[in-house]
Formats: sequence, C-alpha cells, structure tokens
Amino acid sequence: MKKFWWQDAIIYQVYLRSFQDTNNDGIGDINGVIKRLDYLKELGVNTLWISPHYDSPMDDNGYDVRDFFKVSEDYGTIDDFKKLLKEAHQRGMKIITDLVLNHTSDEHPWFEAAKDPKHPEHKHYHDYYIWHKPKYDKLGNRKLPTQWVSWFGGPVWEYNPPTDSYYLHIFSKKMPDLNWRNKTMRDALKKVIQWWIDLGVDGFRVDASNHLEKNWDFPDSKPGYEHFSSLPKHHDYLEELGRDLFKPNDLLIIGEAGGATRKEAIQYAGFDSNEFNMLIQFEHCWADTDDTNKITPGKWAKGPIDLPKIKNSFAYWIDVFKGKGWNTIYWANHDQPRIVSHYGDDKNYHQESAKMLAFSLYLLPGTPIVYYGEEIGMTNVDYQNLGNFRDVEVFTEYDNFMRLGASHEVAMQSLRDRSRDNARSPMQWNTDIYAGFSKATPWINVNQNYKTINVHQQLQDKASIYNTYKRLLKLRQEEQLAYADVTFYDLDHPQSFNYKVSGKHHDFIVLCNFKGTELKMSKELNLESYELFMSNYDQTNNLNFKPYEARIYRSIKAKQADNT
Ligand code: NOJ
Repeated sequence: MKKFWWQDAIIYQVYLRSFQDTNNDGIGDINGVIKRLDYLKELGVNTLWISPHYDSPMDDNGYDVRDFFKVSEDYGTIDDFKKLLKEAHQRGMKIITDLVLNHTSDEHPWFEAAKDPKHPEHKHYHDYYIWHKPKYDKLGNRKLPTQWVSWFGGPVWEYNPPTDSYYLHIFSKKMPDLNWRNKTMRDALKKVIQWWIDLGVDGFRVDASNHLEKNWDFPDSKPGYEHFSSLPKHHDYLEELGRDLFKPNDLLIIGEAGGATRKEAIQYAGFDSNEFNMLIQFEHCWADTDDTNKITPGKWAKGPIDLPKIKNSFAYWIDVFKGKGWNTIYWANHDQPRIVSHYGDDKNYHQESAKMLAFSLYLLPGTPIVYYGEEIGMTNVDYQNLGNFRDVEVFTEYDNFMRLGASHEVAMQSLRDRSRDNARSPMQWNTDIYAGFSKATPWINVNQNYKTINVHQQLQDKASIYNTYKRLLKLRQEEQLAYADVTFYDLDHPQSFNYKVSGKHHDFIVLCNFKGTELKMSKELNLESYELFMSNYDQTNNLNFKPYEARIYRSIKAKQADNT
C-alpha cells in the first residue's frame, strides 16, 4: 500500500501574509509560522504548504516573483526560513513551498532587461518572455495581437513602447509569462529549484503548471483559454523538471492543473510519472454558478449548489487514481471563498455546517489539504467598500462588471460573495486586538466575527470545530484512511453526501445532510452492524437529519489484525 512518505501527509496550507505576524508590521511572517508549529502539530498536521515567500512587489501577493533567491522582506530573512525548516524537521514536519514557474514579476531583472532594448543584456533576456508585434486596423490604429482574456479579466497583452511589441501575461499585467521554449530560461529556473532543494525544502506546489506552453501560432479567439492551457508540450517541461530535480530528491510535488482528462491526470501524477505526485483540480470548487448571469459572469455569479457535481467530482478523482496514482482531497484554498460560507451556512448553522463539511471530506482516501482557518470555521468577510479589498483580480473584474452593465451594488455583492480576499483575512487566534494576528493594523481587515470565532475559544471547547478537525485527522491516521476503499451512496441525490470507507480496524459509514432543510435518509442504508461514532448534533433521531446534520457510524466489530 504505502510506497512514498507523502502518502501519509496531512497538509496544512499557510497563507503566509495572513497567518501570524511577529514583528508587528501588520503582515504575517516566517517567524509567525515557527511560533505556531506546535499548534499545527497538535492539530494533526505533518506537512505545511507555504504560499509564496519570495521577494516580490506583491501585485498578486507574491505570485509575482522579483527575486527567486530572496525571501520577501515582508516575511523575514533567509535565516528565518532556514530556522523554519529546522524547527519543522525537528518536529517531524515537512515544508513545501509554492513554486511559480509560469511567470515572473515585471520587476524581475530578467524582464527589466527583456523589455528595454538599451539594456546591456537585452538580447539575452528578451526571449525569456513572449512577445508579439502589434496588428493594425484599416485606419492604422494599433490592435491587440489576439482577443485572449487573462484569468484576472482584461486582455492578456500589454504594449511595451520601447520594443514596439506586446508581451503576454495570462494573469496580471505585472506578471509577464515566461517562454518555456527557451532552454536557457528553463536552465535558469532549474538552478532556482536546485537552490531551494539544497536548502532543505521537502517539496513544491507547482503554480499554474498547465499553462507553461502556449500556442505560438496565436490564433484569434475569445477568451482563448485553449491556446494557453494544457497544451501537450507542457508535459515535456514538467517531465524534464521531474527527471532532473523532483524524483532524484524524493520530493513531494503537487501540481496545480485544472481540467485534466483521466489520461492526463495519470501522466501528471501516476505512480510512474516523473512530473508530480499529486494534482490539485477544481471541479468541486465552483459547483454553484449561475451560468445565465452575463453581468457578473463565470465564478462571480452565485447560483444553487449542485451537490451531485461536488460528489461526482470527488468520486471521479478517487477512481482516476485508484491503484495508479495518488489523490488529494481539499475543500478550498486561497483562490476560493471560505468553505463554510460557500457551501455551508455561516449565519444560522455555522458550527453544524462547518463540521458537516469536515465529516463529508476528511474520511475520503488520498492526502488532505486543510486551508488555514478552516479548522475553526473562518468565514467570508463582509467587505463594505471597494477600498477594503486587496486582491488585484478584484479590481480588474470590478471594471469588467461595470463594462458589462453591473451597478456598483451588484458588483460589490458579487465580490463579497466570491472574491479571493474572503479567504485571506488574518488568522483569528484569540480575542485580543486584531484577533491576536498582529499588534499593528493588518494589511487586510480582520473579520469582525473574531470575538466568537477564534482558536483560543475553540481549544477550550471539546465540541468545537477545531476539536472536530483534530479528531478526524487523528482518525484518518489511525485507520489509514488515506488508503481506504470508498463506496459512495446515491451520488445523484441533491441533498445527501453519504459514503462508506474501509479503515484499518473498522469500516465507517458517513451520512451528511448537505443543506439547511431537514432530510430523511434512505431506509436502504444498512446500519445494523454499525454504531454511532461521531455526530455534529447532541441528539440524533433515527434517519431524520436536521439541517446540516452529519454522522459517522463505525462497524461494531473490529477487523482481524492484518499482519501484512
Ligand atoms: C494560481 C494561484 O493559486 C493564484 O493565487 C495566483 O493568482 C495564480 N496562480 C497566478 O500565479
């Protein structure tokens, strides 16, 4: 069963900027992570994924890297980072960092040279990025090379007067895309990776990994995503990194690659693949969009939750990797709203729905990734003004909504519901000023509900969301649920999330009412040889489930010891 160390990983994603500030500048830092290692260990976590810690102008909170070899001054020093590795390793914990390979900051020295014909190294670096000459209409007006749309809204092209050409950026205009066809550029990035490996990191989460290759014929279409997503050649680049760097160093590599087919998934993260060990995919993340909304389109339009879509996505990915590779399970990360606000009810059933979401996910096989604050049920933030937001995507999309005819209030509501800033507010440690995150005004507002939702309070309460997470993560390890077989019941039922898993000592049946109305579970569930093991309500009533009620039943008889 077990082949690699990372199969037993329980990953916790730390959004560095928002986790714990120790030097009181209002920004989370590496020493803050060190300070909280014992807390995380106690929760049951053994691996941390740290969001980008590199030197950056922070247009996209560090995904815009200015110097790959330097720690951002916002976060500390290289010595702090070395200390983090040491302290984590002493506790038997692993550290994986974000690895941003698709683009750099426009303030990276490579781009500074690439964009400026007068720069002494212009010739060398120009081709590190992707350029296109302008087109002209009949009147001689300059036109964009294509109508491709960036992931943050707006065109992917930005005009650079000194070279009279456009550069490509599939995220913000301060994040020019690298040209992976250039071998010298690839070799330069490989040096970066080797450097962090030599320092002692245990792995990477590879950002935007399916976008490395572009269609260099630049065919016109809108939005044109197919011309810069999942093109076959990007596997060659990843294979090269894996063969030369990832595999020889026994690292944990998690690829961020949405939309992979079954075959591609195995190519990325099959046991025999050199590319990754695990995949982050997204099908379950936006199962509540209203596709008829043309004013705040795509993920920005909230519709009813399509629960079958969510369940089918989990079932699908477990099946894809069964025996062939390794699965990840997670609810949400820094790119989606808070899960309890998104798929639960943070107003009327905060505790119940947060625990229900935990029950429904954390007994499934694979490696879990818990997002910071999820373990205490942190919620979306009620941002009042546009000025409260910090995310670059918010501002490009706000302009987009306005162009499409939205009123300010409609646009604001959409941002409040769906923006990534919801998941980036400071960690709520206690009831002190700024929730114990910092003594200075934080870079982004603290959620006003920190007096009632915080770590300190939940540590004292045996039935808290935190203690529920702790118990579930412990159960996962004791029962080796990462390797479990799972059977889903009623995948197409719109309200129940039910499944059976086979643990090392016991089998478990998980029954969840995913909605805010009562539900009578099917009589066909055979619970005769099972006993109630955990529940998110004090009282349970046969198969009648209250709003968001969730239960775990355990087989009464323990299994024979397996000596294999
Ligand atoms: C994916 C990251 O998760 C997201 O936060 C970031 O904005 C983009 N990649 C660009 O690096």
